[in-house]
Amino acid sequence: MDHFQLRDGIVHCENVPLPRIAEAVGTPVYVYSSATMRRHARVFREALQPLTNPLVAYAVKANPNAAVLATLAREGLGADVVSGGEYARARAAGTDANKIVFSGVGKTADEMKRALAGGLCQFNLESIEEARMLSDVARSLGQKAPAAFRINPDVEAGSHAKISTGAAHNKFGLPIADALEAYRQGRGLPGLAVRGVAVHIGSQLTSLDPLERAFTKIGELIRALRADGHTIATADLGGGLGVPYNPAQPPPPSPADYGAMVRRVTEGWDVRLIFEPGRLIVGNAGVLLTRVIRVKPGLLHPFVIVDAAMNDLMRPSLYDAWHAIEAVVPAGERRVANVVGPVCETGDTFATARHMDRVEADDLLFFRTAGAYAATMASTYNSRPLTPEVLVDGDQWAVVRARLDVEALIAADSIPYWLQP
Ligand code: LLP
Repeated sequence: MDHFQLRDGIVHCENVPLPRIAEAVGTPVYVYSSATMRRHARVFREALQPLTNPLVAYAVKANPNAAVLATLAREGLGADVVSGGEYARARAAGTDANKIVFSGVGKTADEMKRALAGGLCQFNLESIEEARMLSDVARSLGQKAPAAFRINPDVEAGSHAKISTGAAHNKFGLPIADALEAYRQGRGLPGLAVRGVAVHIGSQLTSLDPLERAFTKIGELIRALRADGHTIATADLGGGLGVPYNPAQPPPPSPADYGAMVRRVTEGWDVRLIFEPGRLIVGNAGVLLTRVIRVKPGLLHPFVIVDAAMNDLMRPSLYDAWHAIEAVVPAGERRVANVVGPVCETGDTFATARHMDRVEADDLLFFRTAGAYAATMASTYNSRPLTPEVLVDGDQWAVVRARLDVEALIAADSIPYWLQP
């Protein structure tokens, strides 16, 4: 459920009509609903009951805006971070250090040092080589770093190939067959306290089966590790639960179904469970608001050219992702059209032959499910400044990332002395 609804013929975000934001801030602009984020955080938590003291560490990569992080920190969520930058953002937004999990396939010594200095729940290590580096860094600070190994369970997630991570040929985690040896070596590293296992097999999963297969393997591994004398106190089950994008397709499993599966599979594990949901929390809490520049005729269908482009929302061009596109003030008439941005690539296509609201130049459209992996993946390609972001909470709204103008982009470059006139 989300809070972008038609009211008196105009789509609102909570109590704020979207045209009000478009007029004040300009377009394109991302708009986030606080109520939707809070609701999703609560629904996920409720789905996990009655697990004892699970840690829900929101995957910051999905949407790292400071206002989003502050909203979720107030809800008591922790953070799953994958870079020094994400760690710093989470701390700056008020996330409790003890609720931060540091994942990521290529942590640097500097990133490890910063996280150890600031404190965290645990590092999820992806190799024995990384474990050695962390041990050295922790020792140099006189600490023992809390850690888990991320296991690659060799399970096909069944999601888009670019966002599946749990198959043996993917770059992520330790092969499950090497796990016992890695934990043995990890135990011998003086700067490490290895006390957990972690797994994450991919994103936008629309079936619970691959997750269940992966978790079952993790359960077996925990038993084998304990039999080998290791203390296993945490099991991080990652994120990955899909959200609905296309209402014509069957909805993904609900958080309640996911929670029930997790409780069944992890029965008797005797660990603190950690979860890293990203998309589930913020995906449907955001829209990208855009204005139609013009409509031009096409061979088969008209091209609706909007002022948002692939640089603002990469998902359609990168993963062939489907986002609902609707008029902010629907007139009732519909037609088939292509929706494209102004960037000079055919890949800058949001929808082809889409049955959608009829719109004309200057009308407002919005892309749904643009709260996750949207603003954060934007670039300035074609010298288009990054899209601003707005947070709504009831009747209130605020710009939570300003629109930087082209002058700021130009000012970030410099012309070397030998090219100066
Ligand atoms: N934990 C780890 C270690 C991850 O790599 C990810 C996502 C998550 C948690 C959160 O997964 P979620 O609950 O959001 O599915 N840019 C792509 C998605 C990339 C996901 C990367 N990892 C997209 O737009 O679909």
